[in-house]
Amino acid sequence: MCKNFFFKGQIPYFSAFRKLLMITWLIPFYIFVDQSEFGSFGWAGWWLLIFTVYVRPLSDILPKLGILKTLIMLRKEMGILAGLFILAHGIGFFLKTNNPFPASLWNPKFWNFNTLFGWGMAAFILILIVLLVSNKWGIKYLKRWWKPVQRLTYPVMILSAIHISFAEDENKITMVTLVIIMAILWILANRKVVLWKN
Ligand code: HEM
Repeated sequence: MCKNFFFKGQIPYFSAFRKLLMITWLIPFYIFVDQSEFGSFGWAGWWLLIFTVYVRPLSDILPKLGILKTLIMLRKEMGILAGLFILAHGIGFFLKTNNPFPASLWNPKFWNFNTLFGWGMAAFILILIVLLVSNKWGIKYLKRWWKPVQRLTYPVMILSAIHISFAEDENKITMVTLVIIMAILWILANRKVVLWKN
């Protein structure tokens, strides 16, 4: 059972789970009802983003773990969920503080890179672009540019890590560690290094 799960990547009811994930796309819209949890939405978006950027290089480096190959299939659903949670976090902040949305997105007051806002805003705009083209329309019209646009997820992660480091000092070490791990995984995967294979 464990062997099938971890090494063969057989997850029971996987396709049902995948469909169920699409229902969870509705959760971030709750921000329009209650903005008090905008911080939690930011965290949910952050950890889902980590999943999306880590899973492919990890699977390339550790092909023995078939579970990672199966989880790659969830990248699109998880990526969209991450993006929606992050947008909900930003929008939640503007609504909670009575700043008009979307007008606040071009308010110079928020584009200050000496505070958490500049970094958060830059990540917000990039994730919005990625989300808008994460569909059949995006693939059809962007053609060979579609993949490079999807790769904006990496700068989004770095900008978000800086933003979160500004939010609370104690987050700094975790954020730096997660960005370093991402860089190492990315380099290893690009050099086709395999650490654990069959
Ligand atoms: C429009 C863009 C954004 C705005 C206006 C914004 C606003 C804020 C504010 C005001 C805080 C401080 C909350 C507090 O101290 O209680 C915060 C924290 C945070 N932000 Fe953002 N943010 C934005 C983008 C992002 C992005 C792109 C991410 C990526 C995941 C993110 C994730 C977080 C997280 C995880 C926290 C810590 C929450 C906590 O500890 O309660 N934010 N954000």
